[in-house]
Amino acid sequence: MHKIAVIPGDGTGPEVIAEGLKVLKAAAKKFGFPYETKMFDFGAERFLKTGKTLEDKDIAELKQYSAIYLGAIGHPEVKPGILETGILLKLRFSLDQYINLRPVKLYNEAFCPLKDKKPQDVDFVVVRENSEGLYKGMGEFEKKGTPEEVAIQISYNTRKGVERCIRFAFEYCRKRNQRKKLTLCGKTNVLTYAWDLWERTFQEVAKEYPDITTGYAHVDATTMWFVKNPEWFDVIVTDNMFGDIITDLGAMIQGGMGIAAGGNINPTGVSMFEPIGGSAPKYTGKNVINPLAAICALGMLLETLGETKAAKAVEDTVIKIVKTRLKSLAAGKMGYSTTEVGDLVVENL
Ligand code: IPM
Ligand code: MN
Repeated sequence: MHKIAVIPGDGTGPEVIAEGLKVLKAAAKKFGFPYETKMFDFGAERFLKTGKTLEDKDIAELKQYSAIYLGAIGHPEVKPGILETGILLKLRFSLDQYINLRPVKLYNEAFCPLKDKKPQDVDFVVVRENSEGLYKGMGEFEKKGTPEEVAIQISYNTRKGVERCIRFAFEYCRKRNQRKKLTLCGKTNVLTYAWDLWERTFQEVAKEYPDITTGYAHVDATTMWFVKNPEWFDVIVTDNMFGDIITDLGAMIQGGMGIAAGGNINPTGVSMFEPIGGSAPKYTGKNVINPLAAICALGMLLETLGETKAAKAVEDTVIKIVKTRLKSLAAGKMGYSTTEVGDLVVENL
């Protein structure tokens, strides 16, 4: 029995999660797997009422589940940082989801903003370190509020943390079995402590994977290649901050936030799957947001649970709909409402 914890969260989160759950129900019926869900109300509304983000007992409870399905976290009435660190980052860190896996795959060239790029040109995966770096929250103010103020934000990288991420990327690249090319994306020319460790570790681990071709690109150059020659990439491994930045660009070249999904992975624990776009306050409650990113996140969740056939069916159905039905992947321009897109996936599964 798969036990799935569902955190719809804020903004459009509940709307897209509802569509994902419709697809889960249909997939379970078709492929015959048992599951149960429990809803958790972590998010802005609960925070505004009770002042609570996420407590240790909540984490303990979530550890009992097979996977977590998350909508979105963030609300215009709550100061930026409180919900993000108190809920989203707390979940990632305390469940030790040390990988953020973000596939960048173009399903329909009509939705690609790059000229002349086809689905086979935009098909790579970013393995983002998800537990350290600048996200560790280390730093301090000196002389706060004075003209001499200094704000220090530390990028914290451990050999163990870097190595487990790089190893995951090599293994993933081998298993993906496509071009078998792993690119390290960093900034060795300026961030000479952090990226020295990353590069040394990458070179050492690479020796154990003679079947994988390795490469290196600075993060600024990586953004250039995403636009110019995305076909050069197969798997990319990078740190938390760079991974955050390049995957928003990745989302755009695969057709936009409406389709981009990701997984926060703990390979030996509880993983969490989410659409990578935010809570989209501007579209909330209008039945216009694209639920496909959340549906793709559900596909990744099913894959992790070992329901490979169901996962593949979900992805194939999304591809079919994106190729043949949707006018656009953008909110309000799809030619269908949020709930209608969910229904389309269910009908075509
Ligand atoms: C993401 C988001 C988060 C991040 C925010 C909401 C904290 O941008 O998942 O990419 O920076 O990781
Ligand atoms: Mn981001």
